[in-house]
Amino acid sequence: MSKAETYELLTEQIRALTEGESDIVAIMANVAAAIHETIGFWWTGFYRVKHKTGSDDKELVLGPFQGPVACMHIPFGRGVCGTAWERRETIIVPDVEQFPGHIACSSLSRSEIVVPVFSSSGDVVAMLDIDSKELNTFDDTDRQYLESICSLLAK
Ligand code: SME
Repeated sequence: MSKAETYELLTEQIRALTEGESDIVAIMANVAAAIHETIGFWWTGFYRVKHKTGSDDKELVLGPFQGPVACMHIPFGRGVCGTAWERRETIIVPDVEQFPGHIACSSLSRSEIVVPVFSSSGDVVAMLDIDSKELNTFDDTDRQYLESICSLLAK
């Protein structure tokens, strides 16, 4: 099965999982599991935009994921996730060692894609982060389908 065909099936599965469900954590948990089980990445999960405790400032906080334990807080503009949040766009990293400021949660991660999740009003509410143990794992096909999947999460 081609990558696009795999993503077509995955997208349909995720569409069914998200329909009629309003709890974003439950949705993110099943979406992370569906992507991770279907494609077999090294780490698949979400970071949610949240207020820092007792502050108006926001940061990314670890959400539902599949894979090894990961860092729990990422500042705006830091790492691949914080940079994608700042730019409000998907970032594909073919080689994490070449991305200045990359945050290495696992020394085995070699390439990465980070896709913003937008609310229906256009705010960034979370990041979908996927890591691979191989270099150059992610391309425009991944970007296109993962952006489409993230648009299903918008509430
Ligand atoms: N590498 C990410 C941090 C999260 S872990 O990959 C799960 C980053 O640089 O933002």
